[in-house]
This record gives sequence, C-alpha cells and structure tokens, in this order.
Amino acid sequence: MAKSNDAVLLARWRAETPGCAARVHLNNAGASLMPGVVKDAITGFLGREALEGGYEAADAAAQEVADTYAAIGALVGAAPRQVAVVTSATHAFAQALAAFDFAPGDVILTSSDDYISNQLMYLSLARRLGVRIVRAPDAPEGGVDVDAFSALLASERPRLAALTWIPTNSGLIQPAEEVGRRCREAGVPYLVDACQAVGQLPVDVGALQCDYLASTARKFLRGPRGIGFLVVSDRALARGDAPLLVDMRGARWTEPDAYALVDDARRFEQWEFPYALVLGMGVAARYAAEVGVARGSARAHALAARLRERIGAIPGVRTLDRGARLSAIATFELRGRVAREVMLALRGQGINTSAQSRGDAVIDFDRKGATSQLRISPHYFNTEDELEVAARALERLLA
Ligand SMILES: Cc1ncc(COP(=O)(O)O)c(C=O)c1O
Repeated sequence: MAKSNDAVLLARWRAETPGCAARVHLNNAGASLMPGVVKDAITGFLGREALEGGYEAADAAAQEVADTYAAIGALVGAAPRQVAVVTSATHAFAQALAAFDFAPGDVILTSSDDYISNQLMYLSLARRLGVRIVRAPDAPEGGVDVDAFSALLASERPRLAALTWIPTNSGLIQPAEEVGRRCREAGVPYLVDACQAVGQLPVDVGALQCDYLASTARKFLRGPRGIGFLVVSDRALARGDAPLLVDMRGARWTEPDAYALVDDARRFEQWEFPYALVLGMGVAARYAAEVGVARGSARAHALAARLRERIGAIPGVRTLDRGARLSAIATFELRGRVAREVMLALRGQGINTSAQSRGDAVIDFDRKGATSQLRISPHYFNTEDELEVAARALERLLA
C-alpha cells in the first residue's frame, strides 16, 4: 500500500535530521535538532576559515551572507535591510531596549508572562534609571487581557510596550497581533519577543505592527546555538533609532568627533560576526520555508495537545498550560517529584525534555502553585510513537 503524503514527508524530515536516529528529542523549545544541511553549512564554513583564513573566507561568502538576510526577512515578512544578526534573542531584545532614552518615571508596559531575562532587564532599567514597570492583568483564561492592555496604553502613556509572544515556561500563545494593533492605535512603540514563535508559528511583522521583533535560531527554527536576529521596522529606522552603544558595524566614523549611523538595521549589530553560524541560520530559515511553517506548526501543536491528554492523565501529574490558544510547549507538575531529577532520568533513557523551577518564571509558578515542572516540546519531525515512548517512561518513573 502506498504511504500517505504525510507519512512520506515525516520519513523525509526524519531522514534529514541525523539526531532523530539516536534519541527521542522532545526539547525543541530548548534547542531543536539541526537538519543535516544546517550542520553541513556550519562545518563547511569552519573548514573554509581554517584553510583560507577567516577574513578571506568571509569576503568570499558575501553572497551567502546576503542570502541569510533575505531568508530571515522572507520568514518574518521583512525586507533584508530590516534584519540585524546578533548572538541571541536576549542580545536582540537588549539592543532594542537600548534604543530608548528612558528617563525616570517612564513606563514599560508588559505582561506577567514575559521571559525571565526580559523581566530582569526591565528590573535593571527600573533600578538604574527609575523606569516604572507596569504588567497588564491577564484574561481569565490566561494570557494578557488585550482590553486591559489597551486601557493601560491610554492611562500610563508608556514609553514602550513589550510582549513575549510564546513564553518559555508554559504552553500559552499570547495575542501578539491584537496587542500590536492597540499599540499602533495608541502610537506606542512595540517590542515583541518571538524567540519561541519563529519556526513554530507563521510570523508576519506587518501583521504584528511591531517596531522590533527579537528571536534566536536554535529553537523551533532549528538553527545552531549562539546566533539570533532582531527585525527593526522602517518606522524605527526612520526615527533614527539605534542602540546606546554602536560599533564600527553600525556607524561610520566621519570626523574626530562625529559619526553617522548606517541606514539599515545593521546599526544594531556588532562588527565581529560568527559567519559559520550566520550561514547555518540562513540554511535553517530556508529549510523551514521548504517544510512550510504553517504545516509544521499544525503538526507540532497537535502533538503537544496529544501529550497534554496522555501525560496529563497519568496519576500524580498536573498539566499546567493555560490560555485561549496553546503552543507546542506542554508543561507538567509531577507531584512530590523534582522535575529536574525526572528530566535527567528520562535523558538517561535517550528521551530529551527539560525542567524548570520557580526562579525561571516566578509570577507564573506562584499563581499555579507549582515549584518545578517538566517541559515537553515536540516539533513536526517527532512521531506519535515517540510521544508514547516518553509517556510510558514517565509512567514507570512516577510509579
Ligand atoms: C521566550 C524566550 N525569550 C527569550 C529567550 C532567550 O533566548 P536566548 O537564549 O537566545 O537569548 C528564550 C530562551 O529560552 C525564550 O524562551
């Protein structure tokens, strides 16, 4: 009997992902498995650096580097000039924050589910510069309440609104486009952390209406570690936005006491550049487009929903995910157990998951009354059989 088209695609994605052979990888929200072509692009370029010289290999790869900007832009609906390549989502987010001259009393409006390092950056700005952090209340079903957010845009007149689209610590998908529309109406700059969204959801910066979008390569995009990007709107570029500290990549030194910013988003980059990783990220973006982000998203979300049903029914397990719309991240409290110990035991059996504890998301953990959680995050290349292997292993460990 002929295999269905879906089965053929699944077999192909798995054959193109060498890591699938050895392990059950359900930690795609941590770092996904790179397709072989991504790994080859990275190691191939490192080989060229070793043989040709780093600067010489970089010059020779100018077109491939340009292709990376085009591929990232195409993935998120941006022009290549709007893309800045940086080392991580955190770096991208920090560069965007550094474009604002915050004064004491300025408000950053955000949510309770914003990523830990973003919350720490807001707190640092509060401590150093006297910025006020306002977290909009959540809707009853979870995720930020868009009307409450909108009311705070009017009453607080924030200098910046910032939202983590898909938090690291729960299966929630926040209403990032609706918030973006309200920010535009209010004329408030909008910064989106799309670290878990890129590669997991179709992303369109036009629909988000954001001024900035920050992401990494290694998660659902399936690129390497140590590389990410910031997308900057033309509006922000035209305003003359730039990070507080620019280097010779972002600006030209024109006179002893004068400099001029470059025209495009590269003003948010630094000169030193991990070319091998940059090329790997470009290949990952093209691979994601070939698979089809919407297709991959539907499958990953269906697998996560199945996990919530199967694992949530194991005695002693509580599913923690809340929200009107859920992502490919499934989180579970294992009563009486420290999640990290269970995660390590699963890893010992060849099953990759991750564990988080209160310090990773204090607001979310406290309101759920949990102290640690197991996070299981499938992607489109995982199989239903793999979910069952993980569920049975967990049943044995919790028995
Ligand atoms: C939602 C979210 N934002 C930001 C980050 C930080 O990404 P990076 O480690 O690339 O700085 C993460 C990492 O887990 C994340 O999940």
